[in-house]
Amino acid sequence: MLNRRQFFQRTGAGALSLMSGGLGSLLAPPFVSAKGKTGNEFDPDLEISMTSYRTQIPIFPGSPTRVWSYKGQVLKGDQARLINIDSSYLGPIIRVNRGEKIRINFINDVPDETIVHWHGLHVPAVMDGHPRFVIPQGKEYNYEFEVRNRAGTYWYHPHPHGRTGPQVYRGLAGLFIVSDDEEKAAGLPSGPYDIPLVIQDRLFDASNQLVYSSRNMWDKMDGFLGDRILVNGQPDFNLPVATRAYRLRILNGSNSRIYKLAWQDGTPLTIVGTDGGLLEKPVDRKNVFLSPGERIDLWADFSSYPVGSETSLISLPFDVGMMGNGRMAHGKMGGRVLDNAQVLPNGAGLSILKIKVNRKEKTEFSVPQRLSHIERYNAKDAVNFENPRTFRLSLEEMIWKINGRTFEMEEVAEEEVVQLGSLEVWEFSNEGSGTGMRGLSMPHPIHLHGKQFQVLDRSGVLHDGYLDDGWKDTVLLMPEERIRIIVEFEDYSGLFLYHCHNLEHEDMGMMRNYLVKS
Ligand code: C2O
Ligand code: CU
Ligand code: CU
Repeated sequence: MLNRRQFFQRTGAGALSLMSGGLGSLLAPPFVSAKGKTGNEFDPDLEISMTSYRTQIPIFPGSPTRVWSYKGQVLKGDQARLINIDSSYLGPIIRVNRGEKIRINFINDVPDETIVHWHGLHVPAVMDGHPRFVIPQGKEYNYEFEVRNRAGTYWYHPHPHGRTGPQVYRGLAGLFIVSDDEEKAAGLPSGPYDIPLVIQDRLFDASNQLVYSSRNMWDKMDGFLGDRILVNGQPDFNLPVATRAYRLRILNGSNSRIYKLAWQDGTPLTIVGTDGGLLEKPVDRKNVFLSPGERIDLWADFSSYPVGSETSLISLPFDVGMMGNGRMAHGKMGGRVLDNAQVLPNGAGLSILKIKVNRKEKTEFSVPQRLSHIERYNAKDAVNFENPRTFRLSLEEMIWKINGRTFEMEEVAEEEVVQLGSLEVWEFSNEGSGTGMRGLSMPHPIHLHGKQFQVLDRSGVLHDGYLDDGWKDTVLLMPEERIRIIVEFEDYSGLFLYHCHNLEHEDMGMMRNYLVKS
């Protein structure tokens, strides 16, 4: 039986009661249908409990680092579905198959309100971890959903409004990996040759403690930047490999830092997958941007490297315009005092991880030329093809906004209401503030909740390194650029978010609701 609190959590009725006026009636139907879908009859294939908690992790020699983390436990199903990453603050990797029913009993044991969002997953609105569902320390939230996504690398992280940046920064994040038959048929490296890599930047004080500096307004405008690159929670990450092919699943789990990935020795990157799973066929690129929230799957073949050799995955330097590289926050403008002179600006070249080829292994493994099938949408089929919804990213009164608006918990503007089942073109433009001050823009990784979409085109492009193929849930817009995406609002009605995935921008309110109306 559901108790009253669970009932409210599962149906969203608590949120509904906060609504007023016409919007309340618009919001009603999705919650009713969500309730119908998640009744007591839900019989999970996998049931886990997940707890956010405080702990200490040895990251550097000397004092351990105080972090927040998730721990999990399989209550029903295969124990191997939860993989703990040893001595890391990252939460367990959750592995599921497409079509499975999942129940996750989330318990909050950190001293702050929080809620878990499943980034990239196509789930009902009440399962999506919207900030209106936050729970205080000591409370629980029950998730039940069917995995409808394609095989791919998704992830989970907190989503309380105004607190996502600091909570992710303290360590709350983990991977959610989906497999399916199409992926198995593709024959990519698996098991120990399928390696998840979560890239994040952090700043530490002299006693190895994390420093999260939202020291002033300028920091918030840029977003947080650290001077240490961690991979899977570890600094100076080394990956020992054999002379064979690997699948590297890379997530940019940083708050604000954008990477322009490349192999240090100039070998092109072979990309086999992106946010929403495998591409149709592999793509070779000299370099590729990975902005916060985005994922990329690489085919990395070390068979031609001699044992004992090394290479690195690096981030190439790139220009992010007048703002956005940390310059404003770090004293090169306005004559302000530096808080941390070491901080690397966004766009600085850096080393991410070292690969060490340490053993011979004979495999004849060449990259499969057919990976998956992707049905391309036809832009002409969109209901608003002639007149796309447009979203202008801007800085107004020192706040990043979308169409001149900032986040309000339950607010949906008329232009943010879409019809369930419709295929739409959305256009995002990062052309500045509307105040006529060109240059007052920054890179913004734009993310939609609930849906994978396809990129139609970009204009005003000033950079190389975009990979817009396949299914995406997050896309980077550099200053002066525009992008058109196409998205189908199928299956689930209700209130979902779209926002900038620079977490400090998101926390500042560069986030809005969209409502899928049935
Ligand atoms: Cu990673 Cu609202 O998202
Ligand atoms: Cu998301
Ligand atoms: Cu932004």
